[in-house]
Amino acid sequence: MPVEAPYLLTGRVALISGSSRGIGAAMAVDFAEAGARVIVTARQQEKADAVAANIREAGGEAEAYAYDASVPAAGARLVAAIHRDIGQLDILVNNAAILRPHVIAKLSESEFDEIFAVNTRAAVFLCQACRPLLEQSADAAIVNITAAGAHSPMEGIGAYCASKAAMVNFTRTLAREWTASGIRVNALTPGSVATDMILPTDPARRAEFEKNMASQNLMQRLADPVEIARAARFLVSPAASFITGQTLIVDGGLLA
Ligand SMILES: NC(=O)c1ccc[n+]([C@@H]2O[C@H](COP(=O)([O-])OP(=O)(O)OC[C@H]3O[C@@H](n4cnc5c(N)ncnc54)[C@H](OP(=O)(O)O)[C@@H]3O)[C@@H](O)[C@H]2O)c1
Repeated sequence: MPVEAPYLLTGRVALISGSSRGIGAAMAVDFAEAGARVIVTARQQEKADAVAANIREAGGEAEAYAYDASVPAAGARLVAAIHRDIGQLDILVNNAAILRPHVIAKLSESEFDEIFAVNTRAAVFLCQACRPLLEQSADAAIVNITAAGAHSPMEGIGAYCASKAAMVNFTRTLAREWTASGIRVNALTPGSVATDMILPTDPARRAEFEKNMASQNLMQRLADPVEIARAARFLVSPAASFITGQTLIVDGGLLA
């Protein structure tokens, strides 16, 4: 679909953490279609390579890097490689995350640490590592992908919800500290999206689960990952040039 000027990302380099599948892969494809040079990441190099290859086959620009958000200092290493190989960064989307069902009564310290390490700590330090490159950009933007559970707690995934609530708050602080340096910082909260993160692999259970999840929002369906990708593109595009420190909720009315 042709992209209008304020929504184009021509000439900009975009790093999307966790872009081997789901919402992250949809953003990589969508941003590339809008003219960005996209940096795809996944824990395994081959998975990032596959998405980047598809984008290039479709005529877009994409690079692939291995990045494991659970490993301390992985963000700094990733950004050092981007600095060396590309030397430019305009957009960061903190998308990589894990969801581990648990009730708080049985939550272990290691489960808590793993969830916060990937969903919160890695995102904070990836922002920090990207700052010097983003400061050199004429149009820099960060989007932190959160979750509806950040705004309305959900039993059974309490640590996940808390890790995302922390990112909503962190986004606002970062906007206060970095907007004056030319870096807009926003959060995007998806509702229920049809990805591996929430859908069971067993097809019979998947259909039932999807029906239940769909019944919880006003649209009575799950989002397609591309619907989240387009909202993220809006936030990082010139069309959102006066938006910073906000959370855009894209949930089909789940939290209405
Ligand atoms: N799906 C939903 O309904 C929903 C709702 C609200 C919010 N969200 C949020 O949207 C974002 C994307 O979710 P999704 O549904 O697309 O999830 P997904 O399908 O499970 O994909 C997660 C992505 O993160 C990567 N990832 C996982 N662990 C990682 C790690 N330790 N280090 C680096 N990358 C890692 C995965 O890559 P590899 O496994 O290949 O490394 C994959 O590319 C997440 O922040 C999620 O919390 C999703």
